Order: sequence, then structure tokens, then C-alpha cells
Amino acid sequence: MNKCWKTYLLWFAQEHTEFRSAEINSLLSLLNIEMRYVEKPKDIEPYWIVEFSSEDDVKLLASRSVSLRNCIELWAHAKSIPAIHDKLKNYPLQLYKSHFDANKSFKIEVETFCRHFTQKEKVDKLEAFSYLPVSGPVNLKNPDVTLQYIEYYGTISNDPPELPYFVFFGRWVANGLRQLIKKLSLKTRKFIGNTSMDPQLSLLMANQAKVKDGDIVLDPFVGTGSLLVAAAQFGGYVIGTDIDYLMLHARTRPSRIKQKMREKDESIKANMKQYNLEHKYLDVMVNDFSVSFWKDTVQFDAIITDPPYGIRESTERIGTTKTDCKVKEEHLHTHIPAKIDYGISHIYRDLLLFSAKHLKVGGCVVCWFPVFREDYDEKSLPSHPCFNLTANCEQVLTKVTSRRLLTFEKIRDPTPHEMETYDHEIIDFRKKYYTAREESRKERRTREAQIREENRKKYEKS
Ligand SMILES: C[S@@+](CC[C@H](N)C(=O)[O-])C[C@H]1O[C@@H](n2cnc3c(N)ncnc32)[C@H](O)[C@@H]1O
Repeated sequence: MNKCWKTYLLWFAQEHTEFRSAEINSLLSLLNIEMRYVEKPKDIEPYWIVEFSSEDDVKLLASRSVSLRNCIELWAHAKSIPAIHDKLKNYPLQLYKSHFDANKSFKIEVETFCRHFTQKEKVDKLEAFSYLPVSGPVNLKNPDVTLQYIEYYGTISNDPPELPYFVFFGRWVANGLRQLIKKLSLKTRKFIGNTSMDPQLSLLMANQAKVKDGDIVLDPFVGTGSLLVAAAQFGGYVIGTDIDYLMLHARTRPSRIKQKMREKDESIKANMKQYNLEHKYLDVMVNDFSVSFWKDTVQFDAIITDPPYGIRESTERIGTTKTDCKVKEEHLHTHIPAKIDYGISHIYRDLLLFSAKHLKVGGCVVCWFPVFREDYDEKSLPSHPCFNLTANCEQVLTKVTSRRLLTFEKIRDPTPHEMETYDHEIIDFRKKYYTAREESRKERRTREAQIREENRKKYEKS
């Protein structure tokens, strides 16, 4: 049977725009949806014009997307206001007659992007559509049909043009998942820490990992469990590990300025309960990721994680530099093992090796990776023969540093030889970060000393 393709306008939030394409591509693959581009999307524009063969597909995509604000079935778009009215007047609107039915309530919304108009001006714009053959009653609160008219004035809000660059008209179909970002806000979350991941990025990561109902999802550097919250929200059963006993037991110093002491019942489990996701919580355990304690047969559907870079939190693993070190039998039960540095190369090597062994084929590892922007080269990213890098999005942090959200899809199981011999040296971000910081401090001190010297000379002269 021939598919009947219809044109839709996808309107995105202008936030974390660098993750937009990767998120939509992951969701299309997860939900098995076909989408065709009518126009090649431009990164800076907040909208895409695309085609779907079924409205259910559009609704399904919107029900999972965090980047998407809303989707409308696009009836007309043009480069000017008179042109869109001409198009609509000449358009065979009977194609849409079911939406104009006398017993269907409706409303028309006017949106202007990047330019403010008064309510009166908006009403004038709305009245220009009086030729539409709508016959049902107006219902502003809960209409059967919402028609949307959008004037797009670009993205520079402090200097918008007099006339819109583009205008769009269509029928609202679905909203994206933006309201979830507010619901999961760190401001109101029971247990947070200094490195808790913000909800929008956590949800994007869970989407990149294609988490679906019933999946088992692991975060091996779980911290306060923000990524688990996002994965559970999409139906995953979640489990986490972290080396920091105090963090997992919520006994670290509180991160909220006004909070003096942690409350007794703060925990990752309490966060899950707060969002009615307790039934998706498996457990969290204290574990050094460099010493795996999982049975060989354990398999996960997805691994999402934000490994430590050693800037805001320490990168440590259990170990010692001493050569001859044996703990006496009688001291074993109170012994706290020594820790040594856990370099970035080791962390990402362990993560990919672990995932090669414990992730199901077709599953995804989604992780952040810190880079110095001037050094960045795709070849310097972690890699492994069992994984394809399917997405790589940059989030700029400072002038010189950024972190990249990497998505690896497992394509096959490793051979025993690969498990033994795999190694991958990568630039030590932490070492370079502190060296660069020290150099810039030295430069600043020299500059300040020079200024002081110049001022002293000026003063002496006068
Ligand atoms: C960037 S934080 C993760 C934050 C987390 N995504 C959240 O939302 O709270 C990195 C975590 O890795 C943990 N970590 C550091 N070294 C580790 C190791 N060797 N094994 C397991 N966890 C480790 C730290 O204790 C820290 O909680």
C-alpha cells in the first residue's frame, strides 16, 4: 500500500541545540519511524520542515523528544504575510474539512518568534484569517482543533527585522516533552550533589541511549543518580555504582547554599520515590569501576554515564604504589584500601571494555568526554572495534574546553583476544587542564607584577 506522506513543522527549543539532530535520529531509530526532510535543516533555525506518513508517528516522536517544543501539520508557509494568505485562500481547504466540522470546537493561536506584539496586534493578525471555513464553536481552553499561525523573525531578539522572514500556518498535532524538564528540576529534587546532571541533558542522554520500557540501565559512575532518574522516566529499570560511599549514602556536604546538614532520608531511592519511579529502582552499590564485580553473564540494555574528569570530583581507583603490601588477616575487616589516580585513558578504556562484555549487541553506551577544543580531533576520541560511534555532540564549557556527548552502539561481541589486548591512549584532560590553569595563573601574576612596576615608576616620577 502506498504511504500518504504529509508535511509537518517541527518547532524546537533554542536550548542545547547541538543535541537536536542526534536526539531525533536516535528516537526515529528507537521508535522505528520514517521521516523525510522537505528542506535541509539549518542549525541556527528553530524549525524543521519534514514529512511523516502517519500522524501517530509524529505523536510518538513528540512523546519522547526533549528538544521538541511542538509539531504542527503544515498547511502553508511563505516568505511574507500576504503570500501566506494568498496560499491559504487558494488552497484546497476541503482537504482539511474534517477539522472545520460544525461540532468541532477550535481556536487559532498566533505566535511571533523573536519579536514582541501587543495582544491587540495579535488579535488583528488573527482576524486576518476570517476567510477560513471554520464553523464550530470557539473554545480557548480545550478545543478539538488548534490552528497555529507563526511569524518567524529570526533568532536575534534585540534586533528583529520589521517583517518576518517566514510565516507558517497549520494544525497543532502534539507538544514535545519540555514539561518534564521542569518536573525533574534539580531545584526541587530531594537529593542532589555538586555534579548532579541537569534534567534536560539527562533526558537527552537517556534518549541517545534509546532507553525503552523494561530495559536494564546501568550508570557505573552514578553520583546522585540523575541519569538513573531520566532512564527510569523512559521505562528503564535502573542500577548504579560509585566509589564514593559517602555520596551513595548522602553523607557528603550539602550542595544547597542554605542547607546546613543533609536530611536523614536523602538518597537516590528517595529521588525515585519523589517522581513515582520507585518501582524502576533496582539498587546502587559502592564499587570501584576499575575492579569489576559483575558476573560474566550479566547483560545491560544501556549504559549511560558521566565519568569523573578530576576537576570537580576526584578520579580515583583502588590501588597502591607500594610494591610489597599485604594486609594482616586481623586488620582485614577494618581495612580501608588505599587509592591511586584513575587516569582518563584508563577510565574510558575500562568503560568500553566493560561495555563490550556486558552490553547487549545493539545496546548503546552514552557518555561525556572532556576535550581541549584546540586539540580536538575525532581520531583522539575513545574507540573500540565492537562499537560504532553513532553520535558526537559538543557542549562548549569555556573558551578552551568543551565536553562531547558520545553515543556508541555495540555492533558485535568481542573476541577473547580483543578483551585481553585492547588499549587506547587518549590525551589526559586533567593534566592538561591543570597545566594550562597554572600557566595562565603565572601569566596573570607576571602581568600584574609588570603593572605594579609601571605604576611604581610613574609614581616615583611624579
Ligand atoms: C561526574 S560525577 C557523576 C555525577 C552523576 N551523573 C550525578 O548526576 O550525580 C562522577 C562520579 O564518579 C565517581 N567515581 C570516581 N571514581 C570512581 C571509580 N573509580 N569508580 C566508580 N565511581 C567513581 C565519583 O564519586 C562521582 O560521583
